[in-house]
Amino acid sequence: MCGIIGYIGKQQASPIVIDGLRRLEYRGYDSAGLAVLADGKLATRKRKGKIDEGLAVLHKQSPVTGTVGMGHTRWATHGLPTDENSHPHLDQSGRIAIVHNGVIENYDSLRKKLEAKGHTFKSETDTEVLAHLIGERYAALEKAGHIKENAATHPLAQATKDALKDAVGTYGVVVISEMHPGVMVGARRGSPLIVGIGNDENFLASDANAIVNYTKRVIYLKDYDVVTLWEDNFKMETVSDNSGSYQISDIEFDAEAADKGDFDHYMLKEIFEQPQTVKNALRGRMDFEESTAKFGGLNMSVAELRAIDKIVITACGTSWHAALVGEYLIEEMAHIPVEVEYASEYRYRNAPIDKNTLCIVITQSGETADTLAGLRESKRRGHTVLSICNVVGSTIARESDGGIYLHAGPEIGVASTKAFVSQVTALTLFALMMGRIRMLSNRRGTQILKALEAVPGQIQKILDQNDEIRRIALKYKDCHNFFFLGRQYNFPVALEGALKLKEISYIHAEGYPAAEMKHGPIAMIDENTPTVVVLPTDALYEKTYSNLEEIKARKGPTVAIATEGNTHIAEKVDDVIYVPETWECINPLLAVIPLQLLSYHIAVARECDVDKPRNLAKSVTVE
Ligand code: G6P
Repeated sequence: MCGIIGYIGKQQASPIVIDGLRRLEYRGYDSAGLAVLADGKLATRKRKGKIDEGLAVLHKQSPVTGTVGMGHTRWATHGLPTDENSHPHLDQSGRIAIVHNGVIENYDSLRKKLEAKGHTFKSETDTEVLAHLIGERYAALEKAGHIKENAATHPLAQATKDALKDAVGTYGVVVISEMHPGVMVGARRGSPLIVGIGNDENFLASDANAIVNYTKRVIYLKDYDVVTLWEDNFKMETVSDNSGSYQISDIEFDAEAADKGDFDHYMLKEIFEQPQTVKNALRGRMDFEESTAKFGGLNMSVAELRAIDKIVITACGTSWHAALVGEYLIEEMAHIPVEVEYASEYRYRNAPIDKNTLCIVITQSGETADTLAGLRESKRRGHTVLSICNVVGSTIARESDGGIYLHAGPEIGVASTKAFVSQVTALTLFALMMGRIRMLSNRRGTQILKALEAVPGQIQKILDQNDEIRRIALKYKDCHNFFFLGRQYNFPVALEGALKLKEISYIHAEGYPAAEMKHGPIAMIDENTPTVVVLPTDALYEKTYSNLEEIKARKGPTVAIATEGNTHIAEKVDDVIYVPETWECINPLLAVIPLQLLSYHIAVARECDVDKPRNLAKSVTVE
């Protein structure tokens, strides 16, 4: 939510900042802006709208030059997406500029106090209040004669720290100032910020995609870290201390991984990457010898895993759907009761959780505010928390006791695709391991491993039907309502199919357990309301098929996601997409692929901006 990049070095800052913002645009695209220190003076450019329609055009018309600069792409929290509300924001003196990701909760009272001192504000944002507060604290240092470039804490960092002590809320913030043109300050609490270390140049960014073109050496800031950057040096402190600790890590993917390549959209690229990303999630984790799965980073002994008698999984959005698949998987394979919670509800619900409960959080980004808050709540109560996460070094990955990385590479399309499939892959392996510790037979373990091993090739087979899926999508692209149905393992798949369609095509869609239709939703069915039914040839085939008949009896168009070899279904439904045969528990990994493609093609046909759907952001770092 909101993307930030800062640059200090010898190169021109603006092109690096604009390029970085393009790579961060999935974090928010209401408006974008930049500030550069041009000949020691602050020059800002900011405009409502997506980067290439707003900021980039503006900057082309009136470019700014300078080797220190920062930029921001916004997802509005306080105030409409207007030019005025766009970042950067300046302090009262106009000498300090900041970009900010997060929410300053007490901005209203701070603003009133500052207004009483004569401050005037140009925007409705909490960020402008923070800029003014930093300016106010800087003025106090000036007044006290404490402005020395060589001070143990740089005066710009000191002013930032003094202001942040009074700010309640979350921030990933970058500060530059005319008074100190060779310095850039960054600080974080709750919103991600990383330092990129280059040769005679340094960076700040809200995530690695923005800077991987320039450097792979990074420091993931911790909450309350404050960093002062010069082009050839940096100093780490905390909000309350003059020294801070840090660890330098390597970004684990290449710049090309964050590019679209030959695909029209990131989403399509990511859908087509899935044979590979499933392989990545499986690599090194399949133990055919013992018919189980193994993980390097759980940090739990077999005895500790054996002692678990309940699992609570929390997540948001698509990750929550993966969690629901996990519930079926773990309960079936390991006979451990599983509860799946929306992270946003879990946190404030005073749920009694038994002593031997393992908490698992699932998140692609590792930064979702509600999921992070849920993790902290579980830890506060003394539970072990594992994370299933894609972004290495993210806050959730670092704060959990152990976990499973997806190794799916950067997911840029706002609508999650490959992360979901990798999450379900990881959950299948986890369920298998938990089952094999308890009661799952060696024979069944081997069956599951073999089925998982076949998944990448099977996904490829589905992707090869892309043209046919597109043909079906075009047939239904003008419908206003859709239903998605599935039973058991495929009920979460139906939810995910509906979410994908809503997110990127703005068509109203609902996912239901197939048998629930007759308890209300079936009233909506008519000849213009298609229903997509996930209908594998499994133990419940007849039951689900009856539900499909009920739709047909009300003249609803039907699309089946059926198992290869089921020729009977082709005569019964309007359209059918086949997926290869597999075990019931593996079917979600296959059945979701046509639903992703269906949504994608419908959205493209409706001329929607697939990678940047309206009102959404990829990483939601506000509650
Ligand atoms: C946002 C994204 C969704 C994602 C959800 C959870 O709403 O648009 O695609 O599923 O956040 O994100 P996470 O990174 O925690 O999986």
